[in-house]
Amino acid sequence: MHFGVDYYPEHWPEDRWAEDIRLMKQANFNIVRLAEFAWTKMEPVENEYHFEWLDKIISLFEESNIKVVLCTPTATPPKWLMDKYPDIYPIDEYGHVRGYGSRRHYCFNNETYKEYTKKIVKAMANHYKNNKTVVTWQLDNEFGCHNTVRCYCDDCEKAFQKYLENKYETIENLNEKLGMAFWSQTYYSFESVIIPRHTVCDYKEGKMLAHNPGLWLDYCRFASQSVDDYAALQIEVLRENGVTVPITHNFMAKFYDIDYNKHAKLYDFVSWDCYPNIVHGPFDDIMEVSFQHDMMRGYKNRKFWIMEMSSGPGGWNFMGRAPDPAQLRLWTYQAVAHGADGILYFRWRPCLFGTEQYWHGILDHDGIGRDRYKIIKQVGAEFKTLESIIDRTENVSEVCMIRSFDNVWSHDYQWHSQGFDYNQILSYMHIALSKLNINCDVTDFSHDLSKYKLVIIPAYNISTAENAEMLRKYVKNGGNALITFRSGNRDEYNKINGLTIPGYFRELAGIDVINYDALGKDMIKIKGVTGDSLAAVWADIIDQKDCEVLAAYDDCFYKNSPCITKNSVGKGTVYYMGCHTDVDTYQKVLKVITENIQTTKLVDKAVEGVETVYREYGDKKALFVLNYNDYNVSINILVPVKKTVHLEAFGVTVIY
Ligand code: GAL
Repeated sequence: MHFGVDYYPEHWPEDRWAEDIRLMKQANFNIVRLAEFAWTKMEPVENEYHFEWLDKIISLFEESNIKVVLCTPTATPPKWLMDKYPDIYPIDEYGHVRGYGSRRHYCFNNETYKEYTKKIVKAMANHYKNNKTVVTWQLDNEFGCHNTVRCYCDDCEKAFQKYLENKYETIENLNEKLGMAFWSQTYYSFESVIIPRHTVCDYKEGKMLAHNPGLWLDYCRFASQSVDDYAALQIEVLRENGVTVPITHNFMAKFYDIDYNKHAKLYDFVSWDCYPNIVHGPFDDIMEVSFQHDMMRGYKNRKFWIMEMSSGPGGWNFMGRAPDPAQLRLWTYQAVAHGADGILYFRWRPCLFGTEQYWHGILDHDGIGRDRYKIIKQVGAEFKTLESIIDRTENVSEVCMIRSFDNVWSHDYQWHSQGFDYNQILSYMHIALSKLNINCDVTDFSHDLSKYKLVIIPAYNISTAENAEMLRKYVKNGGNALITFRSGNRDEYNKINGLTIPGYFRELAGIDVINYDALGKDMIKIKGVTGDSLAAVWADIIDQKDCEVLAAYDDCFYKNSPCITKNSVGKGTVYYMGCHTDVDTYQKVLKVITENIQTTKLVDKAVEGVETVYREYGDKKALFVLNYNDYNVSINILVPVKKTVHLEAFGVTVIY
């Protein structure tokens, strides 16, 4: 297990370094991350490299047997470079330059920047390839942070045109596949195709709404691919110049501009930056963090690292609330429970200058470690005793949820009904499962579904006949699926496919959606397995044919028509849910479904504010029990042993 911190030696006098390392060692740290913003320190003027300071700090870490994650510094292109080549700056959708003064001020498709990237990465690779203390490389920092994936410069437009030409081959084909006949948008050559930017139809915070949805989706894919290509270029330089250790990148939570399912394939493992700074926040909010952990594990279906874990109050211009030190321990265990086997806290000590003076770390501004330091040190000691559980056992879930970035982007552009939010639908269902003490993987259609008892497919609109076929085989052999509203009705070009809803999934669900009602902000009554509850955002009006009805509308002109149905297919079952609702109601629905299909019970009875995460490897079984309440609780667990577990406020235990 890797346990450590993000450290910025370039911000502190050298005579402090030894003391910092002494304190890190005492805190049981075995790894630090260095240099992700240190380009000017390494190359203050063009072609003049200075690695002495970095060599020195790395050798001090080596003496203390603390390993290093070394970063390429490309998130902060130096001023000398920007002054020489100002066309590196990204351009926004209004044509404005996004200029100097913060970070990430570069376009992923700028050829000059790619050349300079290669130079600095090559210099670092050559210098550190044989350094045994450097055990991992991180590329850049948070690709896409500050809304930087989508750029609107001429280089991007040209690259987009090339991308389209490779994909569609002829302009006639593009016009036809994307439906450019609408509003006479027909293009006469690939050079005439635009990046979807500012038009007369913009409204609301510059959101662009009138472009062809297919062109928009292609642009989202292209922009995401541009990040992949830029990352691949860095990896190639590292590998060609002798770097053999694993390479990763720090992903972001609730960030959807890069197709992380694809992007993750570039790396040896995924890491991400986790800031659950919620003090006494509602349980649902902290379960949203668990959802993010499961998503990150799902990108490669393997363990991941937290490259930046919250270690204190955060803030740039103002600060957030101070976490209870016990919560720092809890959040760390939460990450580990969901599959993190590397934890690095952000950051060691808050800076005395610069934008993030208010972003706190483990130490305080005065360099003294107080309660936060003490608790993190304690966690480090505990992890030593848990090492075999953390390293050897894997998360085992009986339920999985399918999600795709094409759907993220398609729903984001045409969101069907006021208040429709794809990510919210998924997260509500995931939170509902957490509250039922049911663990859930998050993945895509490329993974093996046969190991799951239930596969949930929420709002899977951009879909294919192959998706439906894969699901059919899975269900016929005894699997169970839950499909929801807004599924099955768009093709890969973001066009409505014209099939009777739910399109590709119609036969499986065994229903026809004969009408629908975009509820917007209104809510309408429903009854059945949901109890007396409310549908929100959307209502599919269903002809259930031979299906069993589990819930129906109790309102409007479609009163008594079904909203949740159940259909038997081969040895399995397909449930269809035609409306959105709140977490409590999802919980009721999922309780009925999971009882029907007999998922394993981890606890005797759920306790509000307590999460359980199950792991196993061979005969070894472990249950992480996490109390997010600011009061003591007891819970009767059934796995791996029958036992009553007592937890303090924000307490955690691992039973194995
Ligand atoms: C992260 C970023 C860090 C730091 C932190 C606090 O998103 O990677 O460099 O800025 O937020 O703002």
